[in-house]
Amino acid sequence: MVSQRHDVTLEWPDADRETRTIAVDEDETVLEAAERSGIALPFGCRTGACGTCTGRLLEADGAEPTAADDERTVDVDGAFSYRRSPRALKDRHRTAGYVLLCIASPRTDCRLAVGANVHTELVENPWK
Ligand code: FES
Repeated sequence: MVSQRHDVTLEWPDADRETRTIAVDEDETVLEAAERSGIALPFGCRTGACGTCTGRLLEADGAEPTAADDERTVDVDGAFSYRRSPRALKDRHRTAGYVLLCIASPRTDCRLAVGANVHTELVENPWK
């Protein structure tokens, strides 16, 4: 059976880098697909423990978070499946849209904020 592919758009919010869209198989992780495409993303443990690879979901399957009340309308848990437990993220991080790209595989087309700044934002503000 051929596994499904999804278009994943990568944006570097605070870096002067071009937005890139890559096709990611349902059985590979976003990090693996980026590497296959020659795109460097930050990573450390590759097992979901350190958080270095953290990205943030901006849009899934055409749905964006609503700006008015900052409630997210995107289904974060439905947008990705994890190969193993994402130990580096607390539940509230996951609810807020943070994703561990080293172990996450997409279930839908989506847009992600990536790069070292996303992890920094997570570490600097423990309430996010
Ligand atoms: S590289 Fe460590 S959690 Fe992804």
